[in-house]
Amino acid sequence: MFTAKTLSELRLQAEALGAPLPLSEDLSCLAERWSAGSRRVKNRLVVQPMEGCDSENDGSPSAYTRRRYLRLAAGGAGLIWLEACAVCPEGRANPRQLWIREETLDAFRRLADDMRETAVRETGEAPLLILQLTHSGRYSKPEGVPAPRIACRNPLFERDAPLPESCVVSDEEIVRAEDDSARAAALAARAGFDGADIKASHRYLGSELLSAFTRPGRYGGSFENRTRFLRSALAKARQLVPGDFLLTSRLNAYDGFPYPYGFGVAQDKTLAPDLSEPIRLLRILRDELRLPLVNITIGNPYVNPHVNRPADWQPYPLPEQPLRGVKRVLDCVGALKAAVPGLAFVGSALSYPRVFAGNLAAGAVKAGIMDAAGFGRLSFANPNFARDLLSGKGLDSRHACVACGKCSQIMRLGSRTGCVVRDPEYTALYKELMQK
Ligand SMILES: Cc1cc2nc3c(=O)[nH]c(=O)nc-3n(C[C@H](O)[C@H](O)[C@H](O)COP(=O)(O)O)c2cc1C
Repeated sequence: MFTAKTLSELRLQAEALGAPLPLSEDLSCLAERWSAGSRRVKNRLVVQPMEGCDSENDGSPSAYTRRRYLRLAAGGAGLIWLEACAVCPEGRANPRQLWIREETLDAFRRLADDMRETAVRETGEAPLLILQLTHSGRYSKPEGVPAPRIACRNPLFERDAPLPESCVVSDEEIVRAEDDSARAAALAARAGFDGADIKASHRYLGSELLSAFTRPGRYGGSFENRTRFLRSALAKARQLVPGDFLLTSRLNAYDGFPYPYGFGVAQDKTLAPDLSEPIRLLRILRDELRLPLVNITIGNPYVNPHVNRPADWQPYPLPEQPLRGVKRVLDCVGALKAAVPGLAFVGSALSYPRVFAGNLAAGAVKAGIMDAAGFGRLSFANPNFARDLLSGKGLDSRHACVACGKCSQIMRLGSRTGCVVRDPEYTALYKELMQK
């Protein structure tokens, strides 16, 4: 459990675990401007994509979605990386996942416009807005029941309930997903977003393909084949978007599953990270696909959430002290940034240290581990986190994330989600769900 009451206590605890963390009392580096390609970003604080599962049935942002994003826009972060948005109906993770298409374009445009207007009114300057685009693949549930489209069979995940061969996506279906992703990026540009992320993380389709070692054909086996979807989708998108539109990817650098079922993992059947393939891929994204920026994450929120988002509670006994999980993410991001200069990196999984999350972010930026610090659960708990950190005062313990896992829990129950502890809107919803 998280027990540190002071920054030095946290520093000592992390050191005692053999997981020393970069912690800085001075938060001033978070206020610095930085560049993502040709774009200047007003500070180094990023809102990570956090799915709210609250769109209208047609995939357009609802009043709940707008409430979340307008609060975040007023909160002062330099970059708001909007949540996973489906590129096709069969790729939706739930019936309330955002879905960008001609029919919903105006609603997305209104959201982007209103976010900018709110940010300018409340903070004096607009943030960069990037929309995450996804095909949920293995986790597709467009009608509320699982309808998995998988890259390849996986006995680790399917031990109890093997999926039939018909769930494996065909090569033609993958080409369609590339085209859908490229078209969705073009729609994001028309809607007024600054950029789009073709998602390759968390074991959704674009991520699962990266570890499709056992898949035959053009999209499996070799590094070239396993990275084909991401490379092609980005190249196709480039053809459809204006030159200054920012294309990027939220990439899993390490899956945390043994070979041959994990990307970024040593092939000796241990779970040790081996970042040689992620580094090779990032160099291609930088040099051949001209990406200026990536957002690095690790793990799978369904199967090994302790790797993906360290917390004091998981739906299984904790296999490690969560600070070790925080350190693993930082080590991955830092190693990639050192190996791929010239690419800007957003880092993840910084919310766990509660009121000290900003000290960790500042320490990581100062140490050159990341260019900008992304916050997921903290942005649910406190949409104003950036303003609080930029004021130099740091976070107030009454508004920090407590890493309780309830935002994920209500999402898994099929509900829309937000911070159950800090946002009364979701406290009431959680109580109602638990009573049911
Ligand atoms: C409720 C919930 C929804 C999430 N939705 C997304 C998403 O849409 N896209 C994505 O890439 N990551 C998503 N994530 C992962 C977060 O962006 C982030 O990587 C993770 O929470 C760890 O960062 P943190 O410590 O700042 O929370 C989600 C996480 C949670 C808890």
